[in-house]
Amino acid sequence: GRPVVVIPVAVHVVWNSEAQNISDAQIRSQIDVLNADFRATNPDRAGVPPVWADRVGDARVEFILASRDPAGRPTSGVTRTHTTTRAFGSDDAMKLARRGGTDAWPSDRYLNIWVCQLSGGLLGYAQFPGGPPETDGVVLLHTATGTLGTASAPFDLGRTATHEVGHWLNLRHIWGDDGEGCSGTDFVADTPNQGGPNLGKPTFPQLSCGNAPDGDMFMNYMDYTDDAAMVCYTKGQVERMDACLEGARSSFIH
Ligand code: ARG
Ligand code: ZN
Ligand code: CA
Repeated sequence: GRPVVVIPVAVHVVWNSEAQNISDAQIRSQIDVLNADFRATNPDRAGVPPVWADRVGDARVEFILASRDPAGRPTSGVTRTHTTTRAFGSDDAMKLARRGGTDAWPSDRYLNIWVCQLSGGLLGYAQFPGGPPETDGVVLLHTATGTLGTASAPFDLGRTATHEVGHWLNLRHIWGDDGEGCSGTDFVADTPNQGGPNLGKPTFPQLSCGNAPDGDMFMNYMDYTDDAAMVCYTKGQVERMDACLEGARSSFIH
């Protein structure tokens, strides 16, 4: 395949209570998970049912905390901002200094990850390619970030970021975002047609939409299962991420 693409990451911790000001170690644990999952070196990929083992894809994308800030000065790649906002919603306020958050670093050169308290059970959300640069990136609930510190089961294996960065690279939910219907699509050829999202830790097989005998690929990062149950991208999803990196996000390819 093509050379590995290395994505510089800026993590913006926007905290109200001290607990929300997560440690550098927790942030590093998140970067480690992204690197394992996007290179398919995560040991739990062994849990992919044998019928699909040859569909597992290595996205050949790696992540590194930025070593230079937008002005070219040395940086840890982490910004820390105190906010008076107790919990954010999905309206992007954490991404704007004038709304109690932290402004994005230039989104053609950095993957911006905001880490904060979120309301309403939201684990995170992402902006698809092609949107406004000032809100581009992904948002993570601090308790769904990385594998230590405030990370809380069942979302304590860093998979919220894996899922959200999938969206950032133009992946859709595996069930096609049509409720429980069978007519939605994720525009990926090697993921089975699937009704609605799977939750928790399903057992193989989970059938829907006439997809017997193997059923839903619920162990895919783009389903809605617990962190421990999602373990792979497919080669077809990698093709879609590649197309994004050659198109809307080509500024990351040097
Ligand atoms: N956007 C999804 C949500 O907030 C993220 C789901 C991530 N799933 C996970 N197992 N970490 O519900
Ligand atoms: Zn999603
Ligand atoms: Ca569907």
